[in-house]
Amino acid sequence: MRLDVVTIFPEYLEPLNVSLVGKARARGQLHVHVHDLRAWTYDRHNTVDDTPYGGGPGMVMKTEPWGDALDSVLADGYEAGSREPALIVPTPSGRPFTQELAVHLSERPWLLFTPARYEGIDRRVVDEYATRMPVYEVSIGDYVLAGGEAAVLVVTEAVARLLPGVLGNAESHRDDSFAPGAMANLLEGPVHTKPPLWRGRGVPDVLLSGHHGKIARWRRDEALRRTTAHRPDLIERCDPKAFDKKDREMLSILGWEPDPDGERYGRFWRRTDGVEE
Ligand code: ADE
Repeated sequence: MRLDVVTIFPEYLEPLNVSLVGKARARGQLHVHVHDLRAWTYDRHNTVDDTPYGGGPGMVMKTEPWGDALDSVLADGYEAGSREPALIVPTPSGRPFTQELAVHLSERPWLLFTPARYEGIDRRVVDEYATRMPVYEVSIGDYVLAGGEAAVLVVTEAVARLLPGVLGNAESHRDDSFAPGAMANLLEGPVHTKPPLWRGRGVPDVLLSGHHGKIARWRRDEALRRTTAHRPDLIERCDPKAFDKKDREMLSILGWEPDPDGERYGRFWRRTDGVEE
């Protein structure tokens, strides 16, 4: 996979040399190219922004540097044999970046990222490249960052670990929280390793029992416990068919019951104490 990032802060992308992404690059599984947007400015001040038409606060990134940068990066990539680019535009007004989208992007051969600063990029840039390639405007969460570079790091790491051969064990992502197609999207419960006793704290007996069935059940119960506590919205949306009898017992202990109107509202579970989430 080829990745291009055009940014006014190339040094912000240094973490792409480290850890999982760095290793994938060293092994030739991932080809990353970071470009300084200001290389495509031609005035004395290397201007990349200007005041917004229609007024309002902040500055807007200009069309010309982005257009010239993207044309040049695309030409380079095609020349190197890359095909089927997709443009990834990090923005708080994008669609939520999910594990499902990460899986989808991991199947594409070439991703081009355009992290913006200020109030974003002149709309015409996205509209222009959308005529030539798929464009994904993505938000990594409901908060506003000072720029899209951190979002590029997030998306890159989520995508890179899904590439064939990047994680040692191909099964590792099948059980990820949020793996698409999972019966129920539950958060993963707690994990433990040696020593068996630390500062007076032991490890749950069941994990030392060697009884695989009981361990699997315990893990499932802990996942239900954690998901009801931290992400009740995930439980609400779970199809009751995703749960077995033991799951339903655990959900009942945790204070959840099937909602008789579930089909109608897509909210299949509700809290037994009547509190709305
Ligand atoms: N740029 C600023 N905030 C962002 C967010 N939440 N997601 C993606 N890009 C952003």
